[in-house]
Amino acid sequence: MIEGGRYGIWTYRRICEDKKGFSIQQQLYQAAIKEIRTKLEILDEEFRVKYDHNPIHHIESRLKSVESIVKKLQRRGHEISVDSIVNNLSDVAGVRVICNYKDDVESIAKFLVNQDDITYIEQRDYISNPKENGYRSLHLILAIPIFLYESTELVRVEVQIRTIAMDFWASLEHKLKYKKESPVSNNLYHRLQRCAINLAALDEEMQDIYRVINEENKEN
Ligand code: GTP
Ligand code: MG
Repeated sequence: MIEGGRYGIWTYRRICEDKKGFSIQQQLYQAAIKEIRTKLEILDEEFRVKYDHNPIHHIESRLKSVESIVKKLQRRGHEISVDSIVNNLSDVAGVRVICNYKDDVESIAKFLVNQDDITYIEQRDYISNPKENGYRSLHLILAIPIFLYESTELVRVEVQIRTIAMDFWASLEHKLKYKKESPVSNNLYHRLQRCAINLAALDEEMQDIYRVINEENKEN
């Protein structure tokens, strides 16, 4: 996996020199993903049992590919080594939580940040402050301890939390961007922006319908 690819053996030389170290680091990132996923699954189950509500629609996770790791380090002018990956990248381990309702996004973020063993590093709130193109999502950088045989390692994970509607837009926009060889025209950019605005309104409306139904149920 480390050798070959578009970057060839020379680009990977520094990582290859420390093949064992790289494998150990990858295993740590994989373990961090598992820990976060487990916490989220337990939370979802607790909500289902206590409140008859599943905040999470589904969870996706991925380990950044070696190609993407090398590209990002090079783009940012960092050296290519395992230490450099650990010190300079926060998104090698990535977890995406797709929620049913907008309020669930905040609940999930609070729940993760409040866990005793989780260290909060930073957040990018593209829901309160959407990107100009319309992208909405809440990004958290967290660190979680991984307990090994002889040591405990703090491992960074990027958690992206968003609703189904936000995810629908982000997935299609991402695919469209890569489908087109040239940047999207002004007209298409604005149409995509408009879609994002409409989806944000839909999220608000669905949240409100859910709230009204919940209140009616409580009264009965
Ligand atoms: P990266 O170098 O891509 O990691 O960006 P960053 O370090 O500035 O972080 P940011 O929080 O802005 O974005 C991290 C990730 O969010 C990206 O890798 C994408 O998965 C997602 N993302 C951010 N902006 C967009 C966007 O405009 N469209 C889509 N589809 N995804 C986005
Ligand atoms: Mg990233």
